[in-house]
Amino acid sequence: MTTRNIRNISEAENYYSKDFDWEGLREEVETNPCLQFHLLPHFSQNIANQIEDAQQNSEAWNKFHARHSTGKFFKERRYLLKEFPELASCEDNSKVLEVGCGNGSTALPILRGRQSIILYACDCSSEALERVKEIINDANSISVKHRFHPFQCDFSTVGFPSWLACSTCRGSFLQNHNLRFSGANNSYIINDLNQPCSNEVKCCVGGVDFVTLIFTLSALPLDRMPNAIAQCFSVLKPGGLLLFRDYGLYDMTMLRFEPGQKMGFREYLRSDGTRSYFFCLNTVRNLTTAAGFTEIELEYCCVKSVNRRNGKIMKRVSVHGKFQKPTCT
Ligand SMILES: C[S@@+](CC[C@H](N)C(=O)[O-])C[C@H]1O[C@@H](n2cnc3c(N)ncnc32)[C@H](O)[C@@H]1O
Repeated sequence: MTTRNIRNISEAENYYSKDFDWEGLREEVETNPCLQFHLLPHFSQNIANQIEDAQQNSEAWNKFHARHSTGKFFKERRYLLKEFPELASCEDNSKVLEVGCGNGSTALPILRGRQSIILYACDCSSEALERVKEIINDANSISVKHRFHPFQCDFSTVGFPSWLACSTCRGSFLQNHNLRFSGANNSYIINDLNQPCSNEVKCCVGGVDFVTLIFTLSALPLDRMPNAIAQCFSVLKPGGLLLFRDYGLYDMTMLRFEPGQKMGFREYLRSDGTRSYFFCLNTVRNLTTAAGFTEIELEYCCVKSVNRRNGKIMKRVSVHGKFQKPTCT
């Protein structure tokens, strides 16, 4: 390994790259006798009995955000616009929905990246919404604040509110309104970005051009994921994009879980009551395809970083994906 490949923790968060081969890591993990329990389908019965309902999930996240309420915990995802350049090159007044916005690590770079973008941001945790409002207020820019619209919602159970896309609009999304869109490296069809609500009463914002799902889907139980992705699909305009990044299979944080924290296959419960799933490419592919999306990009991102405190090398794996809602169904 060259020193070029070793990054410190904060630097790693700014990178979107391939420092090592995921197949090599898979072999390393799957042949290590100490890690065999991660490969087994069965799970701890004690933990299974604690499987929480949506209310408990929100409470766990509330406590998490209350504990991490200082500005120190906030880390802007600067790599975001490199990974998803369409967020910086989209049409004026494009609408983005950031799902599970937390304290705004993703929301802030989106708002800063494009002066005219309108950002709707939801979270199931009221504490998270307090934090994100503070962060955006402290951004010291009126041009950021007035384009930011936070709201509370558990998208995996109740879905998104109808003011985002009313039933008439959701129905009209099945029609074909499209034009050509050119991103930095890609060229593909996207809808008419400023299409208003098609309902005569103009009761909603008319759906969104982008949904960002950044380290949020992994927080849900696996059985709620199909509905969660279908909800994202339903509020996107035809041609709109789902921009996805989340924990990848065999990420170092997965390998640190103890056998007693395993809730199911690739599902774990943290000591603070929040949960985490680790995705392989096929799981993400199956979930998005079942909802009706077309795959544009899907790959592992493998980044090596070094823990400054103990000098240990950490292999971080995430799944990067870009999926499009078809322009006609
Ligand atoms: C790891 S954080 C990711 C935050 C943010 N997207 C980012 O890029 O840093 C996951 C967030 O999802 C929220 N969350 C978990 N389950 C949710 C649900 N069912 N509906 C909405 N938000 C949820 C949590 O409160 C938390 O803020």
